[in-house]
Amino acid sequence: MFTFRAPTLLSLTLTSTTASPTYPKTRPHCSACNNTNKMPIQAKIGPSILNADLANLAAESQKLLDNGADYLHLDVMDGEFVPNLTFGHPMVKCLRNHIKEAFFETHMMVQNPEQWITPMADAGVNLYTFHVEPVKDVCNVTRQIQEAGMKVGLAIKPGTPVNVIEKYIDVADLVLVMTVEPGFGGQSFMGDMMPKVEWLRTNYPNLDIEVDGGVGPKTIDCCAKAGANWIVSGTAVVGAADQREVISELRNVVKGYLN
Ligand code: DX5
Ligand code: ZN
Repeated sequence: MFTFRAPTLLSLTLTSTTASPTYPKTRPHCSACNNTNKMPIQAKIGPSILNADLANLAAESQKLLDNGADYLHLDVMDGEFVPNLTFGHPMVKCLRNHIKEAFFETHMMVQNPEQWITPMADAGVNLYTFHVEPVKDVCNVTRQIQEAGMKVGLAIKPGTPVNVIEKYIDVADLVLVMTVEPGFGGQSFMGDMMPKVEWLRTNYPNLDIEVDGGVGPKTIDCCAKAGANWIVSGTAVVGAADQREVISELRNVVKGYLN
């Protein structure tokens, strides 16, 4: 959880076409922490296993990790929040039994994220990223996730403006800006989501900002330039002839903008 506090909330409606943000560029520290030495953000590459051979999930996941993946992005869909169905906590738990050490993020594309907090924590999930759109009490869900021992990720669909989550960023570990409509792998990257990433990076220099959907060697530059540092990549990595090379390329591009 972040120890920094966001600036006083200002009212802003940011759409994908909104002009440059006008907020202060740095976040003041909270009076309690007095910490000016927060770890700089790092480039992290997390392959999505959605389009992998799910019947061989453990082997596919291990291969991605052996080829340099920093974490695994596990897409959980309930057939309600999105028109597709994948897997739930029993599968994640089985995967955890095979892969003890890796960092697991579950991307919860579900109507009721509250319902799966305890079972996902029990399954060994590290970061529980949920969509705020169907949730009435986001603070309550984030608190439960933290109490269950997981980090919190807040996800927004392409049609959701970033100001919807602004008041919760203080209690989040990561914000996921979707760059496709959630539900399916292999879709085209939506470059017009980049203003959201830019706005977040400008106002939250230490925030982990994740992009997901259509990200690969052809689209990584604009993601990295906008300020994304956690990169989800599905088909571009899983289907690559040389996964190691693609993962390394993605990371190097992001690092180039972080330095
Ligand atoms: C889409 C998922 C993504 C997707 C990424 O709903 O959240 O994680 O699988 O796959 P690509 O990179 O192929 O778009
Ligand atoms: Zn995802």
